[in-house]
Amino acid sequence: MILTDDERGMRDGAEGPAVAAAMDLLVRYGEALGAEHLCEVRNVAGTTTQPSPAKARLVAEGGWERAFSVINLDSDETLDVPPMRVPTCQLQQGFGADAHGVPYPAEFVDLQSDAEAFYGRRGVNILATCTPYQVGNLPVRGEHVAWMESSAVVYANSVLGARTNCEGTASTGAASLTGRIPCWGNHHVTNRLGTHLVRADLPVRSFRDWGLFGYFVGDLVQEARPVLVGELARPDLTDLKHLGAAAASSGGIELFHLPGVTPEAPTVEAAFGGRVPEAVGYGPAERRTVYDRLNDQGDREEVDFVLLGCPHASLDQIREAARLLEGRHVEAELWIMAPRALKAVADRSGYTAVIEAAGGRILADSCPAMSRAAPEGTRVFATDSAKQAHYLPAILGIEAWFGTTAECVDAAVTGRWRGELR
Ligand code: F3S
Repeated sequence: MILTDDERGMRDGAEGPAVAAAMDLLVRYGEALGAEHLCEVRNVAGTTTQPSPAKARLVAEGGWERAFSVINLDSDETLDVPPMRVPTCQLQQGFGADAHGVPYPAEFVDLQSDAEAFYGRRGVNILATCTPYQVGNLPVRGEHVAWMESSAVVYANSVLGARTNCEGTASTGAASLTGRIPCWGNHHVTNRLGTHLVRADLPVRSFRDWGLFGYFVGDLVQEARPVLVGELARPDLTDLKHLGAAAASSGGIELFHLPGVTPEAPTVEAAFGGRVPEAVGYGPAERRTVYDRLNDQGDREEVDFVLLGCPHASLDQIREAARLLEGRHVEAELWIMAPRALKAVADRSGYTAVIEAAGGRILADSCPAMSRAAPEGTRVFATDSAKQAHYLPAILGIEAWFGTTAECVDAAVTGRWRGELR
């Protein structure tokens, strides 16, 4: 791998042992991938504060320096952790102390609180959300970044036109200390061109339909780069985050193009860089198959728990939930997952008060899949998120229903699932 003078200096210890370990890790990682050089990055979204039993053990052994050295730098030695070299944010993590009644270990809450103090002093912005792009972390088009979290990565690449692979805990930790990441995969323009053309032969307009379409596309192309055309309404932020998260759940999509909408696809031809392949159609039969697949994990009509906000809810989603809940009362537990910064806006705007008056709640920082936590005794849950419907039954061993936001709110109010595909 070709290193600049600055990079060689970091590797050789000019900026201390932790930075040297970080550069060594990135060189080993890059060489394994066949990367010829490193990209400069000034935006890292990673995870250092998320509690785990292994992290608790390491902290007990040698403090947060030990945990960071082993987990984020792949080092056997315990190294002093300097301030992060480039802007870095913490993605989603565990639940915090204000998540009263959520069955989540108290020792993890304390561990996370310690971690926030440690990493906050080193310049990590504790955004605590899987949607950092909703709360002020917005890389610009063409910017090389180092992000984790599949739903955030697909949004950054596709909607923002930033360039990142799906990084991990160690590579983002090393990137934070060096401002570098191996230049391969999605960092190269030639690896960002479309590979498959998928045509919607029926209208895709609603939030639910963007999720169904995304789930179909992910399953179809797996880790390739689809270009999406057809009867598509102009999506908003909420639709696009649902589309990408669904596609990254049924497949491993890190980049899609919507000609006329996403920045690297002014036209279909531009999205492919020339030759346009034959389209695969998405019609009523495919939509029905995807819907049935997402709902084949539900058997009982009684719903104990309703989950909205995966990826973390936008303000529009919170406001819509408040509108649907106005003057009603929930039978089942209702949680809306949201970035803490947006919850503050929801509080000030009165949405939280309406949701809480109905018996629901807005929770920040985490989600049931991330923290492996749902209300005690949950057997059946309902969600408007294709991603949660995909993952949560396997993680928590519960049944799932997938539908519209309105169907989910109705299920929360009545305690019964009445969703259907029209
Ligand atoms: Fe976010 Fe949890 Fe969904 S981290 S994308 S709300 S699974």
